[in-house]
Amino acid sequence: MAIIPADISPAVIEATLRTRLIARPLEVVAEIGSTNDAVMGAGRAGRAEGLAILADRQTAGRGRRGRSWASPAGVGLYTSVLLRPQLTPAKMPLLTLVAGLGVAEAVEEIAGVATRLKWPNDVLVEGRKVAGILAEMASVDEQVGHIVIGIGINVNHGPQDLPEELFPAATSLSLVTGSRIPRGELAAAVYNGLDRWYQIFRQRQIEAILAVGRERSATLGRPVDVLADEERWQGLAVDLDADGALLVREESGELRRVVASDVSIRTPAVQGT
Ligand code: BTN
Repeated sequence: MAIIPADISPAVIEATLRTRLIARPLEVVAEIGSTNDAVMGAGRAGRAEGLAILADRQTAGRGRRGRSWASPAGVGLYTSVLLRPQLTPAKMPLLTLVAGLGVAEAVEEIAGVATRLKWPNDVLVEGRKVAGILAEMASVDEQVGHIVIGIGINVNHGPQDLPEELFPAATSLSLVTGSRIPRGELAAAVYNGLDRWYQIFRQRQIEAILAVGRERSATLGRPVDVLADEERWQGLAVDLDADGALLVREESGELRRVVASDVSIRTPAVQGT
């Protein structure tokens, strides 16, 4: 049977956990299919908001748009958190932003590197992806029933741990910093960050969330390619709207709202911005 490594033991994580809600309780497992699937099931079973599951390894880690998320043992952070906000599905991008802000701040605090957010869910360091967020919901009568926020961070991955097709767009914190990052402290900082921003969200301080989201954005002001289900188009990313959706101006001048598409930045990000 696989054993939970000491650096992500519950005791190590709880030593710096300062949350009111998030990761209360926290379940750490050595191996799982997908933490998102496990937390979605826990939500269906009526478990309370705040539950977090963290795994050392996932055998069926999932990314956005049906992609897989490489989740080797010993190097990454793979966790999902159960939330029960009062929310309509249209506001899901806002919750992804809330999670993104928590993760970005945690990475800055523990790894000492500057981060930016690529809409809707990537955390970038030096223009390359170090973390992704997969927000999934169970809806009931047009309302959101419960939400699972899945967070994957490339922490101590060497080049051999990252899928070849992701180079050079993805990297890990240890590849960027040249040092080993303490996964347990990073996990606690992620839960602390998520707890802080989720409280702000629950207090309906939406403008504060959007203001920091705009400031941290790697996407705004950039020419982007938007890949929707059947359509690919281009424009300039100009703003976030009140629901966290991306507003993109087409060459024709038309302003379009992007909610659930893939967006890629057409010009390379400037280092450190
Ligand atoms: C993405 O950028 O495509 C989102 C990646 C999200 C990966 C995390 S790892 C923990 C959680 N469990 C999963 O199966 N996926 C998310």
